[in-house]
Amino acid sequence: MMSISNPPLQGRVAFIAGGSSGINLGIAQRFASEGVKVAIISRSQEKVAAAVGEITAAGNVAMGMAADVREYAAVEKALAAVRESYGEIDIVISGAAGNFMCPAIGMSANAFKTVVDIDLLGTFNVLRASFAYLRKPGASLISITAPQGAKPEMFQAHVCAAKAGVNMLTKCLAMEWGPAGVRVNAISPGPIAGTEGVARMAADPATAAAWEARLALRSYGSKQDIAELAVFLASDQARYMTGAIVDCDGGASLGDSSADALTVSGRR
Ligand code: HXC
Ligand code: NAP
Repeated sequence: MMSISNPPLQGRVAFIAGGSSGINLGIAQRFASEGVKVAIISRSQEKVAAAVGEITAAGNVAMGMAADVREYAAVEKALAAVRESYGEIDIVISGAAGNFMCPAIGMSANAFKTVVDIDLLGTFNVLRASFAYLRKPGASLISITAPQGAKPEMFQAHVCAAKAGVNMLTKCLAMEWGPAGVRVNAISPGPIAGTEGVARMAADPATAAAWEARLALRSYGSKQDIAELAVFLASDQARYMTGAIVDCDGGASLGDSSADALTVSGRR
């Protein structure tokens, strides 16, 4: 006889760095709807409060505090507060990031460093600091990377370098922490509609349409697409997955798919 199981994440605790907006807030909201106690950090206290307010207004459980992922001590303080309130942490999302379009020749050393510090050092800080606060075995750590981590892109030298580092860090930590029962994976979203990332990279409609036309699936993704994958990776159903960089990108990582092969071949 088939049994009806509880939602796979019910009662767990998630720590979500960069969770006050965009893709990461989408993940936080989805987790919360599964009965996860969600804790959010980002730099802006106002954004954190608004995000926590949205989740609790929906009848779910959330807390949050301002913390900059570039500051290890601030991240650790937040983790300690979360454990104090919710107990040991089952799921960590490292999703804080910064991005702007800029040719390398016009980029200051500090501009490059700023993005590497937020994306890569920030991810190290969040994952490294979280280790002592995790429920072990069983914890699932998920970084949010990008296609730029595997494929070079014009005006994105800082992001490409930082996200490539995030990808390799994911694999190294998966090797080192697997024996403790801690899984370490990353999600690589393609362009996601209604996000700051897309607004910064394709500000005008013509650029946005051209970008969409190059994707194999011919459309941007949604925050829900990424949140569903995060639910799976966080759950025990993904118990044998670690060190994976999982593309959820409409084919962005494959390269330019704008030629219509099916029409050209007369097989559409
Ligand atoms: C060139 C720039 C710049 C720009 C800032 N800088 N913006 N250089 N072009 N547009 C330079 C500054 O001049 C400075 O260098 C250095 O970067 C640091 O700038 P600050 O403003 O002091 O940094 P900070 O306050 O820490 O803000 C970080 C930030 C900002 C990244 C610059 O934009 C931010 O807070 N972003 C967070 C939100 C975000 O970016 N979301 C999108 C994530 S999407 P100097 O030399 O003057 O001191 C993503 C991938 C998307 O990550 C992939 C889509 C497919
Ligand atoms: P977003 O809304 O700007 O999300 C970034 C979050 O990080 C914000 O909540 C921001 O809040 C926080 N943050 C930034 N710097 C921080 C710092 N130093 N310390 C702590 N928190 C910080 O952008 P998004 O487009 O949804 O991107 C979310 C993630 O998805 C990023 O990792 C990005 O690289 C990745 N991604 C996005 C896309 C896309 O299409 N949008 C595609 C591929 C990958 P504060 O301002 O309050 O700090």
